[in-house]
Amino acid sequence: ESYDMGGHDTYMHKEIFEQPDAVDRVLRGRIDDRFATVRLGGLGIDAREARAVRRVKILGCGSAYYAGQIGAQLIEELARIPADAEPASEFRYRNAVVDPDTLYIAVSQSGETYDTLAAVQELKRKGARVLGVVNVVGSAIAREADGGIYVHAGPEVCVVSTKCFTNTAVAFALLALHLGRVRDLSVSDGKRIIAGLRRLPGQIAEILAGEAEIARLARTYATARSMMFVGRVRGYPVAREAAQKLKEVSYVHAEAYPASELKHGPLALIEPEVPSVAVVPDDDLLEKNRATLEEIKARSGRILAVAHQPQEAADDTLVVPRNEVELDPILLGVPLQLFAYHAALALGRDIDKPRNLAKSVTVE
Ligand code: G6P
Repeated sequence: ESYDMGGHDTYMHKEIFEQPDAVDRVLRGRIDDRFATVRLGGLGIDAREARAVRRVKILGCGSAYYAGQIGAQLIEELARIPADAEPASEFRYRNAVVDPDTLYIAVSQSGETYDTLAAVQELKRKGARVLGVVNVVGSAIAREADGGIYVHAGPEVCVVSTKCFTNTAVAFALLALHLGRVRDLSVSDGKRIIAGLRRLPGQIAEILAGEAEIARLARTYATARSMMFVGRVRGYPVAREAAQKLKEVSYVHAEAYPASELKHGPLALIEPEVPSVAVVPDDDLLEKNRATLEEIKARSGRILAVAHQPQEAADDTLVVPRNEVELDPILLGVPLQLFAYHAALALGRDIDKPRNLAKSVTVE
């Protein structure tokens, strides 16, 4: 651990601020403007094979799993292939049906997580094709997989994942674009997504420049007994990852829920001492999300919205720049990384080494 801290007090802070460069790296050399697609040299799947994929199943643990959930949505949206993500451990213990027309993708920062590796080995034993979306080059999962994408986040030291989470989501956007362009995605949509990808590093830098305001809000919310994180569809994996981040580093209890499920249980928890963070992208579900904010407000719960414009029903809004709707989840999570960091700082936590957690879980 002799990396230059570059003036940052923790690796978490340093790694959050490395994101504009990290995202630049995952894109570098991969964009093909002429054909409005991307080149993914290590994938090992040709266009004919890509067209034959009937389903995509993404497997990972912790933040890798949540990044995989964003990935599944991107693949469904851009490539119109049914896709979902599942915790690798659940998958390997439930004797899942291994389907020859399904493309399996293992996601891992370290490439060494035991449950994810075991899922890959089991899949390979049963003849499945498995790709890796991995950060550490030459790691066990990268070696076992038939091919894949390196996410090029650079070394991640802090136990909680930040830049690797973001880069993994971007890597999935590249994969989704690639699969889309050999199937049904138009040239103009390909160009639109490429332009959006290129805007990401600058927009992340813009979000990080708002640190002082995020820190101020984090300090006021950090006194909460518990927090609810809600989002719909594109916002839901963002809410899950943000709740996870807050739990991991600040030890504040947090629960993530699909916004529409609130009324089926967790609404009973809402009261002034239990604030909510609502992820509110400017997409076709904006009005539905606004109704959720009203529902929470009516129970006198304090609300922090993460949105593209100030939300009237919220007490506070962190405004995030707009990209393309498909790529917005990548940006909406970034201020919530800083939110978790500053909540943990205010509570005096050991940010880089949270209690009971390990960077990489290489045992069962
Ligand atoms: C541990 C870490 C998490 C991480 C997960 C998966 O639980 O504390 O931050 O998301 O493992 O790790 P991987 O290396 O497979 O991405």
